[in-house]
Amino acid sequence: MKNQLLRRALLAVLLVLGSFANQPLRAQSILIQNMPARSVLSLDGNWNYIIDPYENGFYDYRREPFDQSKSGKGGYYDNQKPSSKDEPELIEYDFDHSATLQVPGDWNSQDPKLLYYEGTIWYKKSFNLTPKAGKRYFLYFGAINYESHIYLNGKKLGMHKGGFTPIQYDITDRLSPNGDNFVVVKADNTRRQDEVPTINTDWWNYGGITRNAFIAETPETYITDYKVQLAKSDLNTLTGYVQLGGANKAGQTVTLDIAEAKVRQQLKTDADGKASFSFPAKKLTYWSPQNPKLYAVSLSSGSDAVQDRIGFRTIQTRGADVMLNGKSTFLRGISIHDENPLIPGRARGEGDLRMLLTWAKELGCNFVRLAHYPHNETMLKLADELGLMVWAEVPVYWTISWQNAATYQNAETQLSDLISMGKNRAGIVVWSVGNETPLSEPRLKFMSSLAKKARELDDTRLISAALELHREGSNVIVDDPLGEYLDLTSINEYAGWYWGGKPSEITKYTFNIKYNKPVFISEFGGDALAGYHGTAETRWSEEYQEALYQNQLKMLSTIGNLRGMTPWILTDFRATRRQHPVYQNGFNRKGLISSSGQKKKAFYVLQEYYRQQAKKYDGK
Ligand code: GCU
Repeated sequence: MKNQLLRRALLAVLLVLGSFANQPLRAQSILIQNMPARSVLSLDGNWNYIIDPYENGFYDYRREPFDQSKSGKGGYYDNQKPSSKDEPELIEYDFDHSATLQVPGDWNSQDPKLLYYEGTIWYKKSFNLTPKAGKRYFLYFGAINYESHIYLNGKKLGMHKGGFTPIQYDITDRLSPNGDNFVVVKADNTRRQDEVPTINTDWWNYGGITRNAFIAETPETYITDYKVQLAKSDLNTLTGYVQLGGANKAGQTVTLDIAEAKVRQQLKTDADGKASFSFPAKKLTYWSPQNPKLYAVSLSSGSDAVQDRIGFRTIQTRGADVMLNGKSTFLRGISIHDENPLIPGRARGEGDLRMLLTWAKELGCNFVRLAHYPHNETMLKLADELGLMVWAEVPVYWTISWQNAATYQNAETQLSDLISMGKNRAGIVVWSVGNETPLSEPRLKFMSSLAKKARELDDTRLISAALELHREGSNVIVDDPLGEYLDLTSINEYAGWYWGGKPSEITKYTFNIKYNKPVFISEFGGDALAGYHGTAETRWSEEYQEALYQNQLKMLSTIGNLRGMTPWILTDFRATRRQHPVYQNGFNRKGLISSSGQKKKAFYVLQEYYRQQAKKYDGK
């Protein structure tokens, strides 16, 4: 205790002397599991912001980064104030007198002048937190799109790339002893060819701190990670691990408690602070969409304890079948973007997310494709609660820089972070490594490496990706070599919209699929402007979309191995590529529900089809 106090005092002195200025970037601590379940100080709400398209707050006028200079000072992250009233220094910014943005929330939907803005915006938030002895503190952001540089009390914590996965930094030794702190975030949503996603996508490039921000407190020795799931394809064995972090993590006792399942395991951590387990678990009620049973799971060690609600189920394929808890199922799905169509912008919190999943349930879904990037951790927990299986995905989308090693590393890091975040979620049954990526040897190497990595990180879930197809006359051929590495043969096909003529003409197509695995249609659909009516041949009308769905379902029913689908898409969503002034106005209109919440005619076609599938597979 005395040493800790001494260490703190020394750090405080060093902080004051500013000798931390050149401290190397603090590597991001590993992703602490289930961080939102910790006791937290929320940083949500108003943050002052400064728009900075020329990056004036990051580079000096010779384009050298201020935070890599000798002093480390000079950038907006100093949050500099005039030292006196009568002779104020030249300071050309002032957070405290600047406008504010709501966090969580993209900036595009908060101010009309930011709707199309791509570049840097600086955020700043002051907070009061006096560190307690024997505690550790972690700064957490659910997501910042796309590249973020984060500073606490004027000192850099690190840089993160990836707009959809959590960001965490151990700030225990960086908090000001007197409790007055401020955090500055440089968020830059500029699209770049070598990034993930690359420069071209079909969704709005919403920038900013788009998910929750908070500071979590843990004891000095804390539970940093855990996995509690059924063993691969084994309904009777619970397996996993608990990882401690901080000082004294070796040789500690960890208790795993699942009272309702009469499970209480006392574990001992090894020299690295890890305790693995595998033990028989009888009479579990398995999680399923019909009965989304979640157990209260408690993990404790020393003075730390963390609670979670976890469902137990198995998922596997057997020939053409997808087996949930050993029983063949049909994935009655729909694709979903992380956007609230009624207040266009990134989903802002539980209310938005629950609305989307409730619509999916109303459609008769037991499955959702959370496209095309990692969604909010809250969405994954809601899917568990509502009984929806999930296809989770990384934004390896379209024309990625396949031969760039840094691009691959970025994709793999985002995949690892997604799997780390979602590994205890029963609903997640598919990890997808990408979408509609053009065939080439470098692409195959990149994507198959991601598929192998996903399997290495988690062999209990199915691996997939939206594959490529090609046509020879009315024969649709699926022989994408990436299919070899996947458990589901998934394809996006747009017969009746992008190719194949009118809806009434598409039932002539037959599918020739190379792999004897379950077939999953990860996208089909067409645009319809809600309220615009015509005939089944009037493009953009609700009747056209309705006829397209009717004929798609007829055409797809000829595929013997068909075991699921996630038509594109639940709701209309903002997309910069979609600029027809009458039908689109910057929205992709393939939604079954419009951007004013109106169900289109095609919604009811799919709903009826799913009613029949549910009867056939679930007997209900
Ligand atoms: C593609 C792509 C989607 C896109 C959709 C469309 O398949 O995967 O992201 O929005 O088609 O064209 O509407």
